[in-house]
Amino acid sequence: MSDSKIVKLVDESSNRSSELPLISGTLGPACIDIGTLYKDTGHFTYDPGYGSTASTKSAITYIDGDEGVLLYRGYPIEQLAEKSSFLEVAYLLLNGELPKPAEFATFEHDITHHTMMHEAQKNFFQGFHHDAHPMAMLAAAVASLSAFYHDDLDVENPADRKMAAIRLIAKMPTIAAACFRYSIGWPMRYPRNNLEYVDRFLHMMFEVPSEPLQLNPVAAKALDLLFILHADHEQNASTSTVRLVGSTGANPYASIAAGITALWGPAHGGANEAVLKQLKEIGTPDNVETAVKRAKDKNDSFRLMGFGHRVYKNFDPRAKIIREMCHKVLAELGVNDPLLDVAMKLEEAALKDDYFVERKLYPNVDFYSGIIYKALGIPTEMFTVMFAIARTSGWIAHWIEQHETPGSRIGRPRQIYTGADVRNYTPGDKR
Ligand code: CMC
Repeated sequence: MSDSKIVKLVDESSNRSSELPLISGTLGPACIDIGTLYKDTGHFTYDPGYGSTASTKSAITYIDGDEGVLLYRGYPIEQLAEKSSFLEVAYLLLNGELPKPAEFATFEHDITHHTMMHEAQKNFFQGFHHDAHPMAMLAAAVASLSAFYHDDLDVENPADRKMAAIRLIAKMPTIAAACFRYSIGWPMRYPRNNLEYVDRFLHMMFEVPSEPLQLNPVAAKALDLLFILHADHEQNASTSTVRLVGSTGANPYASIAAGITALWGPAHGGANEAVLKQLKEIGTPDNVETAVKRAKDKNDSFRLMGFGHRVYKNFDPRAKIIREMCHKVLAELGVNDPLLDVAMKLEEAALKDDYFVERKLYPNVDFYSGIIYKALGIPTEMFTVMFAIARTSGWIAHWIEQHETPGSRIGRPRQIYTGADVRNYTPGDKR
């Protein structure tokens, strides 16, 4: 990391200036360190949506949006998708290195032996209406973990932090499956620890007491791959939320629950649910042209869900992998989904349309993932929950990194005040 170059900023009206160091990371553009700007010049910076702002240093994930590159701890996503597993990726995100076989065995053992929910926690679900959205139940259930594990909540203690990471990665599938089963009135299943992570989750989702479940290995492989692709994505809205909440010293379960609620929005992880609903509304390839027209109309709030990204101005590398996987999975499962035809037509139409080309709007990770989830029998309302299971590994890796970084401070942005100037209180009868 080199901090040698300086950018000089001069406020000509006051003649005050600030010498701002340039900070370079391993990869990516250098950043101007504006930490002393307010002290030197009396000015803040203004960057709504944080389009030009790096909020932290981080060694976990790197994205080059112009080139369509995504690295976890330096490893290209394409290599991890082909050769790794979700649990190995979770270890990598948390620890910075791929595990040796003995390290992985210990990690897998630890995860496997923390998969159960506390019996009392199961009662929480009875308080929800039967049609509660699973993301609402998930956020509440994850926040409530802090009520069960309050003896290990010292955020300054590395062993407590590690235990929280293990518990969260281990219990997310159990809680997620419970949300699903509660919503359809099925009895909750206990995790089967003789199964691997993704198989165990599918078992908890779909096994019924009355007959044995035949798990299709194609389904488990596809879900594991989707989990790898969703595991982390540097300082996106939900990860930034986790870090902001974490910066206050809040416990890990509260911080991750906040990340879950941020993920839920349709501009972020909620897009996968929105994509499927939109494809169903479009209905047939014949209606694609009208949908594209509406998406371009500035007087219409309609957007093509699953298109565009704040950082990628090229193909989202995850979308490329998922697109290919989508065709394979549907073929291997023998599913013929007409929504895939609508999706392909929509992609083709948008990619050659000037509006999308000029704005560099490409399909993102959420565009094809819903079609795969649907083929696996996962209901639409559960799509963002799937994203949350995977992203928990990234969120908790960031939360730990934040606590391991010396000199971390509470996150506290400023504002440009646009309200009334100072004025005097007037009594009610004089207003
Ligand atoms: N359909 C139509 N127009 C779009 C779309 C879209 N999906 N996305 C962006 N635009 C237009 C936008 O109207 C604007 O046009 P103009 O320059 O004429 O005002 C331009 O493209 C730039 O868009 P922006 O809203 O300033 O871009 P942003 O970086 O603030 O937003 C985004 C990024 C992902 C929220 C946005 O592209 C979007 O709403 N996409 C649809 C939702 C979606 O798929 N979200 C998932 C993102 S990837 C997974 C994740 O993050 O969880």
